[in-house]
Formats: sequence, structure tokens, C-alpha cells
Amino acid sequence: MTTSLTLRRPDDWHLHLRDGAMLQGILPETARHFARAIVMPNLVPPVVTGAQAAAYRDRILAALPDGMAFEPLMTLYLTEETDPADVAAAHASGLVKAVKLYPAGATTNSASGVTDFEKVRGVLEKMAEIGLPLCVHGEVVDADVDIFDREAVFIDTVLDPIRRATPGLRVVMEHITTAEGAAYAQSGGPDLGATITTHHLVINRNHILVGGIKPHYYCLPVAKREHHRLALRAAATSGLPCFFLGTDSAPHADPAKESACGCAGCFTATNTMSILAHVFEEDGALDKLERFTSLNGPAFYDLPANDARLTLERGGPVTYPDKIDTGAGTVTVFDPGFALHWHVKP
Ligand code: NCD
Ligand code: ZN
Repeated sequence: MTTSLTLRRPDDWHLHLRDGAMLQGILPETARHFARAIVMPNLVPPVVTGAQAAAYRDRILAALPDGMAFEPLMTLYLTEETDPADVAAAHASGLVKAVKLYPAGATTNSASGVTDFEKVRGVLEKMAEIGLPLCVHGEVVDADVDIFDREAVFIDTVLDPIRRATPGLRVVMEHITTAEGAAYAQSGGPDLGATITTHHLVINRNHILVGGIKPHYYCLPVAKREHHRLALRAAATSGLPCFFLGTDSAPHADPAKESACGCAGCFTATNTMSILAHVFEEDGALDKLERFTSLNGPAFYDLPANDARLTLERGGPVTYPDKIDTGAGTVTVFDPGFALHWHVKP
């Protein structure tokens, strides 16, 4: 039995760090294990311009505790007013590594997202030309499409047409939750990647709804049926280059989750590496974990893999805090529902 595993230091290719006191409180949870992260721009107001991304990057670095190394990889929030020249300049300076597309109304802080995809055609064409990836929240928002079908419908009616209309556009399907998403990503060639979260490898929709509603398991895209979870497990543990980790760790203060209208988001930064080692071990794929957490993502983003290493050791039960105290309230850490035995070596 494998009891020790040394990987190149992992990166998180989809992360919410927020701002202010929340940023300060939760940043160490990621920086403790991860070298870099693609930082989502859905602040209020959103990070739309290169100048806003530069200022946000400075705030993240200022919030980093002394002695911790972490590189935020910045993104811009695509709006119908986004200026292709600003995007190109932010990319050329090395500041911005991706642009994020939220269909307006699809998720937390997405009101400034895109409704009319024709209006962003110029930006997408510029991105295809300069090789800047588009990170896509892949759900339609039509009221008449069932929430459990919104990802599959998005692939057919929005994503595939955009990719056909914009040859060369590099796309990351963010936090895929369905067998259809995994199959589409796998068939898309080298310009298409997909992130998979920690929690979607662990929970299905029953975990949210059976035996009482569990607000800390609610996120968007919402977890689907068991057969989709199994398809995601197969994708993540396959080692295929198109699949890489994006935790989508998304902190909300507990009162905002435990509410009559609770926010979407699971907070997994604290225990992701222990959970992933458990999942990959269960599927007999520990030898594929490094590709998922540390190799496939950098290769897609044309960045070097990290030189530093992270070691996991199998042992007694892993202890971690149930909640992280932040100046913006407590944040509940994702409970995988089973004991963890893979310790990240300090
Ligand atoms: C994210 C958030 O809270 O910002 N929530 C979530 O459920 N994943 C937004 C997102 O990535 O959809
Ligand atoms: Zn997210």
C-alpha cells in the first residue's frame, strides 16, 4: 500500500478569494498547499479592467502572511462593454491569464455578465488571436430549463456554437458537473480543457437534499445524479490532459449560507488535498493525482509546472477546523462525510 506520495506543488485553476477581511481570513487556507491559483473576478463590483485586476492582485499579495509564497493568476470578468484592446494589453503585460464568462444571472455576483453573446464577439476573436483562454461558467439561465439540465443545454446551445464561430479560441469549461460535460471536454482537442472541483467528486444531489437540506453542500453548478459524479471521478482520475483541478472553493459567511435564500458555494481550500488523495486512492489512481493537481493545468495555461514539491502521508485521522474564523464571519469547511487519512506534510 502506498503510504507516502510526493507531488509537484499543486495549483488551483478556479478559486474565489473575495476581498477585504474575508480575503485576509481565507487566503492562508489556499496558500498553505497551493503555489498558484486562477483567481475569479466576481467581486462586487467585478474585476473588469486590467487596472482593476492589477489593484486586486496587489491586495491579495498584501493579505498574504509573511513567509507564505503564493502567486495569484488574475482574470478579467467579461461584460458586454469589455474593450478588446484593454484585454490584450492586460495579457501582453503578463498580468492576466484568462477572461471569465458568466452568463448574466447564472451564479453569485454574475449580474454584470453576458446576455447577448454577439456583443462579446470582438473580444473573443481578439482572445483567439492572442491565445488568451476563456474560462466559462457553463449554465444557461433560461427560467424554463431545469436547473439540473442547465449545463448540458449550455454545451449544445451556447458553448459549441461559440467555439465553432471562433476557431482557435482556447476554452476552459469551469467546474463541470455532468457526464455530458466530461465527454464534450474530452472530445474537444487541445484548445479545450475542463476543471473539476473537489466537492463534485464526493457529493451527488442526494447529499444536498436527503434527510434535510444541507446548505454547505449547495453550490453552482449544483451537484447532479450519482452517474454524473462517477463520470467526473473517471475523468479526474483518467490522467487525460484536458482535466485539471479547479476547486471553486467559494467562501460565504455562515449566516449567508444558512438562510432562507442561501448563497451558492462550497469552501474546500482547507482539506482539498487530503480529500483528493482519498478519492484517487479509492479509485486506484494515486499515480494520476499529480497530473490532475499539478501538471495538466500548467500545460494547458502554457506555464511551467512548479519546481517545489508537496508530500502527502497516509496515517491516522486528519484533523482540520470545522470553521475558519475570518474578520467577515465564520466560514464552514466542506465536510466530505468520511474520515480523511492523507496528511499534507507541513
Ligand atoms: C461561486 C461564488 O460563490 O462566487 N459559487 C459557487 O457556487 N460556485 C460562483 C461560481 O463559481 O459559480
Ligand atoms: Zn467559481
